[in-house]
Amino acid sequence: MRRFRILSIVGIFLWVLAAFSFCLAFDKVKFVAISDPHISIPQQKGVSDGFKLGLKTVMLTENVVAEINKIPDLNFVLLAGDLTQDAEPWNIDELRRILDGLKVPYFVVLGNHDLSLVPHEKKDQPVSLSKYTVAGAFIGRSGGMVPGMTYYSHEVAKDLVLIGLDTSRAQVFVPEAGLNDFGGRVDEGQMRWLEGVLKKNQKKTIIVLTHHSLVPWHDGDVKNHNYWRWFWVDNAGDVRGLLKKYGVRLVFSGHRHISTRYQNVDDIFHFITPAISTYPMRYTVYEVTPTTLSWEVKDIPAPQEVWDLAKKNFLANKWWRGPDHPETPEGDRKYLEFYESPGTMKGKVKVK
Ligand SMILES: [Fe+2]
Ligand SMILES: [Fe+2]
Repeated sequence: MRRFRILSIVGIFLWVLAAFSFCLAFDKVKFVAISDPHISIPQQKGVSDGFKLGLKTVMLTENVVAEINKIPDLNFVLLAGDLTQDAEPWNIDELRRILDGLKVPYFVVLGNHDLSLVPHEKKDQPVSLSKYTVAGAFIGRSGGMVPGMTYYSHEVAKDLVLIGLDTSRAQVFVPEAGLNDFGGRVDEGQMRWLEGVLKKNQKKTIIVLTHHSLVPWHDGDVKNHNYWRWFWVDNAGDVRGLLKKYGVRLVFSGHRHISTRYQNVDDIFHFITPAISTYPMRYTVYEVTPTTLSWEVKDIPAPQEVWDLAKKNFLANKWWRGPDHPETPEGDRKYLEFYESPGTMKGKVKVK
C-alpha cells in the first residue's frame, strides 16, 4: 500500500513536471546569421574576383560553415539571401552541398540574385532558374521552405517563430540604370499571408528574415544615389506597420553588404547581416531570450592574401562608395568605417 502511494506521488510529480515543461516558452536560443554568399563555382565561365570575390565564394562559405560547426549549443543558422551568383543550377547544388555540412538546421530566404534573369541584348547571361525552383532546392530536413511557395513560417523553438519573407522583384534590365532591377517589395498576397501568420502567433516571439531591408542604411539609400533605393523594400513602411501592429521586435536582413549594426524604427530592431562574399567577410552569433537579444560579430577565417585582395577590391570599387566617400585618405577612412561598423561588433538590446 505504502509502495503504491509513493509510486502515485512520483507519477503525479512527473506528470506535473512534463506538463509544466511543455507549457514553458524558450529560455535561451543561440543562432548564427550569415548572408550573401553569392556562390559561383570557379569552373563557371566568366567568374572572377572583383568587389565580390567570385572565385573565393565556395571557399569562404565552406570556411564559415566549419567555424559555425565549432560553436557550442547552437540551435540554428539563418541565411539572408543572395545565395548564388544568378540562380544557376550548378551554384544551387554547390550551396546545398555546403550547407548540408552544418550540424544544426538552417533556414534561407531568397535574394534578388536567386531568381531568373530576364535576358536582354546588353549582356551574355548564364542559365538561371525560376525562384520557385531555387526555393524548392531548400525544402529540407529542417523545415522552412515548403513546396510551391517562396516564403514560410516555422516554429524554431517553443514559442519562437521564424518568418522568412520573399522580398525580391523580377530581374528585369532597366536601361536608364544600366542594371537589372535589384529592388524589393512584399507583394499583396504575401502581406495577407503575413498578417494571418502574425495573428496566429501573437503571443509568441517572432523573428523576421528578409533579403532587402525594411529601412535605409545610408543617405544614398534614401536619395536613390546609384539606384540605392533598391536596397530597401518599396513598401517598407507598410510592412513595418504590419509588424508593429502585432508586436514584432526583430528583423534580420542582408543585401546591403555592410557589417552588422541595427536601427530601431517603428519600435522594431532592424539588424543587417554582412556578406560572406565581400569585405569585411563576417558572420554574427546571436543569443535571444524572451526579453533580450545579444550578439557578437566574427571574421570568416581566410588566408591573409584573400583578406588583402578583398580589401583592395573593396577600396577600388567606385559604385559602392557613395557620394560621401571620395577616393582620398579621409574618404577611404569613412568608407571603411561605414562598411566595417567597428562600434557594433558586440552588443545587447532589450526587446521586452
Ligand atoms: Fe548581395
Ligand atoms: Fe542582394
